[in-house]
Amino acid sequence: MKAINVGIIGVSGYTGLELVKMVLLHPIFQLAYCANTEGETTLSQLHPSLMGVCDIGVEKVDLDKAASHCELVFLALPHKTAMTAARGLLERNIKVVDLSADYRLSKENYEAFYCEHEDLNNLSQAVYSIPELHGKAAAGAQLIANPGCHVTATLLAIAPFLDHIDHTNPIFVDSKTGVSGAGKSPTPGVHYVSVNDNINCYNIIKHRHATEIEQHASALCDTEVHITFVPSLVPMTRGMLACVYATLKDDCDPLALMRTFYENKPFIRVRSAPPHTKMTSGTNFADVYATRNKNALVVMCAIDNLMRGASSQALSNANIMMGLDETLGIPKIAYVP
Ligand SMILES: NC(=O)c1ccc[n+]([C@@H]2O[C@H](COP(=O)([O-])OP(=O)(O)OC[C@H]3O[C@@H](n4cnc5c(N)ncnc54)[C@H](OP(=O)(O)O)[C@@H]3O)[C@@H](O)[C@H]2O)c1
Repeated sequence: MKAINVGIIGVSGYTGLELVKMVLLHPIFQLAYCANTEGETTLSQLHPSLMGVCDIGVEKVDLDKAASHCELVFLALPHKTAMTAARGLLERNIKVVDLSADYRLSKENYEAFYCEHEDLNNLSQAVYSIPELHGKAAAGAQLIANPGCHVTATLLAIAPFLDHIDHTNPIFVDSKTGVSGAGKSPTPGVHYVSVNDNINCYNIIKHRHATEIEQHASALCDTEVHITFVPSLVPMTRGMLACVYATLKDDCDPLALMRTFYENKPFIRVRSAPPHTKMTSGTNFADVYATRNKNALVVMCAIDNLMRGASSQALSNANIMMGLDETLGIPKIAYVP
């Protein structure tokens, strides 16, 4: 099959690096354009781990150039910056997979939590896609809104149970993330001394991902879903564990139900014991588990925030978008030990 040229804008960041690593090994996609804020450098200068592997140039963003080199561009950029680039690329008829939050929410929800939306035309066209939950929705799309990390883990945990939960009772989501979730910029909250030997909750209830979980869980079950979201920062580089606590309204066997729901899904592993983040590290796997205590439901999902929570899910979506097998070039072997 003919190679497909792709670009990555935001290549110097954490999710950008994960995309580079996968695209370099992808059987069809070819890395044809890389950019960051200032450019005038190379991949191995930005990421010394790539020395001797790949040393292509990294340029200052130039959308004409990106469009002349690529059929599809991944945006691993901060929100707001991403929508400017997305709009320009879409005008040039280039497909876009956006890892930021810019196209994930309704205008109202986005503007309540982020900033004014400056690309409403494309917002209405964007396809939000977790392949196991949205099927082939990404096929043929021009713009993918790649879901957030806490959202991916939570929706994959809760989706099988949306019709079995009593929505008049609270649903609690307790989601722990590794520090790379905050991106590469050093801030006091992610300083070694703050993170090491410590666990702390942050942005409880009001976290931006709460609204994304509610919007997309509601869309999956046609019921208004409300959650109480408590994210924590834990001293690991990568990894995420979402635990969801809810009230069951029927007599289901949670694990059996989960096994049926995720049958034949290549990147979901239904475990018979609580999952470990490490088993998913460096992969696109979501490891899930569920149990009950009378009518109290406990569901868990472990993922790698940089992979299933961002870059490998983005690549899976890009595969589907381009009519390729969803699993092409997607890592399955974890960084263990
Ligand atoms: N980290 C995660 O676990 C995770 C999970 C899901 C989604 N996301 C989302 O994915 C996106 C990227 O996250 P990240 O963690 O990879 O962030 P990051 O490590 O901070 O990297 C951000 C990248 O964006 C580039 N950039 C910033 N402003 C730019 C501009 N004006 N023009 C061109 N490039 C610009 C940076 O380039 P310079 O080096 O030149 O500044 C860098 O390459 C964010 O929207 C984030 O919310 C992240």
